[in-house]
Order: sequence, then structure tokens, then C-alpha cells
Amino acid sequence: MKTLLVTGGCGFIGSNFIRWQLENYPDVEIINVDVLTYAGNLENLSSVEDDPRCRFEKGDICDRAFIDGVLSSTSVDAIVNFAAESHVDRSILDSGPFVQTNIVGTQVLLDASRQANVERYLQVSTDEVYGSLGSEGFFTEETPLDPSSPYSACKTSADLLVQAYCRTHGFPGIITRCSNNYGPYQFPEKLIPLFISNALKDEALPVYGTGENVRDWIHVIDHCRGIDAALRDGKPGEVYNFGGHAELTNMDLTLRLLRALGKPETLIRHVEDRAGHDFRYAIDTAKAERELGWKPQVVFNTGLKETIDWYLSNTTWVERVRSGAYRDYYETQYGHRLA
Ligand code: NAD
Ligand code: TYD
Repeated sequence: MKTLLVTGGCGFIGSNFIRWQLENYPDVEIINVDVLTYAGNLENLSSVEDDPRCRFEKGDICDRAFIDGVLSSTSVDAIVNFAAESHVDRSILDSGPFVQTNIVGTQVLLDASRQANVERYLQVSTDEVYGSLGSEGFFTEETPLDPSSPYSACKTSADLLVQAYCRTHGFPGIITRCSNNYGPYQFPEKLIPLFISNALKDEALPVYGTGENVRDWIHVIDHCRGIDAALRDGKPGEVYNFGGHAELTNMDLTLRLLRALGKPETLIRHVEDRAGHDFRYAIDTAKAERELGWKPQVVFNTGLKETIDWYLSNTTWVERVRSGAYRDYYETQYGHRLA
């Protein structure tokens, strides 16, 4: 598995994955295809921009001619598809780009991979395809698909396409489904980086509804290790779930963030709940542990502290991504402009 085509490598998880691959596999070669939406940022890869093993190709995964061109210029051993519209709240405001990139983009990659006889295709998916849990139980790979948001419905559609190509065409596709990631370079529209960057500016922290909703948090590097294990040791046609075994209510997490930053609880604002808000996500990781020898390694408290330190040391990065169109999005989503 020497040459990888990584899509969405300028986003949060993709950029961490590329850095991790370059650190761990001296012989790896990576082509990073990214169209650079609002969430894609070349700065996320500035630490490896001079590494000759990684090449960037700006383009859209929905553009078949462009993808065919990339695949005919270099013979790739595997495709790892991170590229997606990834934020639930934006999918509620406008699902169009989600249908396009997450579904049509996946179909284009599947067809182009088949034509180029790519030996492995890994679809990076999410636990949100399973819908919502009550206060008991865990998602396994057998849990029925029951998405709640336009984002998760589009991710589910893409998973079904991958599965259908495996069954119909004997396509070598693998699907991984992971819980909520945290870590460096996460765009500050998701809970953890949004609340850290707001708190640092003494801006309110908008907690949806009661804040009793539960998420399972996994460090992005544990997710990257899982994707790598599935890519190398996973079986075509199979699904692997990853999770961090770190379930927290949003309120508990918010209070921990405020304590770590030395900021007052008075910054918390309970705002209108998210429409269709899934109550709880939690993952049974037994299959990945058994079949891939994978386990999450980062202890949540340590990972969260390192993440907070990263945002404290990278205020220029935060300032740049919170400017321009971000401020318009913020106003549409939260009803007021950032100061
Ligand atoms: P992100 O929004 O930070 O990054 C997405 C990247 O994809 C950006 O660089 C963007 O420019 C690129 N992109 C978007 N549309 C594209 C297109 N049409 N063509 C080419 N590039 C395009 O997302 P993320 O948080 O890094 O998530 C990556 C993947 O992991 C997604 O597929 C997401 O569904 C999945 N996932 C995320 C989480 C999480 O907690 N963030 C959890 C489980 C699964
Ligand atoms: P988010 O980071 O958007 O991830 P996901 O929707 O994929 O789980 O949200 C995590 C949790 O935090 C979710 O329960 C919604 C909640 N949340 C808030 O309470 N306020 C916010 O401003 C955001 C963005 C999320």
C-alpha cells in the first residue's frame, strides 16, 4: 500500500491522516485531492508542504474527468475518501451541497476507481448513519441504518452505494464509521473548537437545548490509526466501527472546557435545540479490536488538554478561519454577529 489517493486532505481529519501517514510510513506517496471549500485549508498541511512524498491536486470529487485525469497520471494502490460536507447544522440550513459531494462525489469516485482497477477503496463514514440511541446500548456494525439529519442521510446513501458496488461488482470497498473526533486543526463550527475559540474571546457558548445530549469523543489520531488498520487489514465489503469510549453530555464537556480555560460558567447560553437532534451516540468497538487489533489509545483528559493547548498556541490559525464567510455563517446559525 504505497501510493494513496486521499480526498479531502485539507480538512480536519484528512490533514491529520496525511501527516500521520508521512510520519509512520517512510515509503508512502500521497496525492491529496481537495476542492478547498470553506472547511479546506492548505495551512492545515503547512508542516509537510515541502515533503516530496505528498502532492496536492486542487479539484472536485464530483468532477469525473478531473478524477480520471488524476488516476491516469499516477497508479494508486488505494483511495481513502474523506471529502465531504461534514457539518450537521449546515446540512439543516441547505442540504444541496451535501447531496452533491457526499453522494454524487462518492459515486464518481467508485466509478473512477473501478475503471482504473484500484485495489482498495476506503469510505470514511460516521456513526451518525445509525441514528440515535437512548440512554442504554451501543452501535454495532449490525445496527440498522436510521439517519436523522440531511448530513447523515447523505453519508448513509454513500455507504449504501459502496456496499452495493461491493455486492454487485465485487468492488474492494471498506467502510469505517467513527464517533465524534476532536484534536488539532478542527474547524471551529464543531462543538469543541467552537466553544474553545468563543471562550477565549469571552463570547457566549451556545448549548443546544438542555445540553443533556451525549457524544462519544475520539482523538483524531486514534481515528487515523483505525482507518490505516482497516485499509491494510480490513476485508473488502466489511464495515468497521471506531469510538473513543469517552461518553460525555454536552453540558459536562462544556463545563470541563470552561474550567480548563479558566473562564466563567456565565458564558453558557442555552439556545434553541437543533432540529432532529440525536440524543446519544456510543460505539461497540469489539469488531475493530478483534479483527484489526485496533483500540483507542488517547486518554480523553490528556487529549482534550493537548487540543486546548493547540488552540491556545495557534490563535493566528483560529483568527484566520473565523474571519470572512465564517462570520456570516455564524450570524445565520446563531442569530447574532461575532464581536
Ligand atoms: P472537514 O469538513 O474538516 O473537511 C472536509 C474536506 O473535504 C475539506 O478539506 C473540503 O475542502 C473537502 N471537500 C469538500 N467537498 C469536496 C469536494 N466536492 N471535492 C473535494 N474535496 C472536497 O471534515 P472532517 O471533519 O475532516 O471529516 C472528514 C470525513 O470524516 C467526512 O467524510 C466526515 O463525514 C467523516 N467523519 C467526521 C467525523 C468528525 O467528528 N469530524 C466523525 C466521523 C466521520
Ligand atoms: P457537533 O460538533 O456539531 O457534532 P455532531 O452534530 O456531529 O455530533 O455537535 C456535537 C454536539 O454538540 C451535538 O449534540 C450538538 C451540540 N452543539 C451545541 O450544543 N452547540 C453548538 O453550537 C454546536 C455546534 C453543537
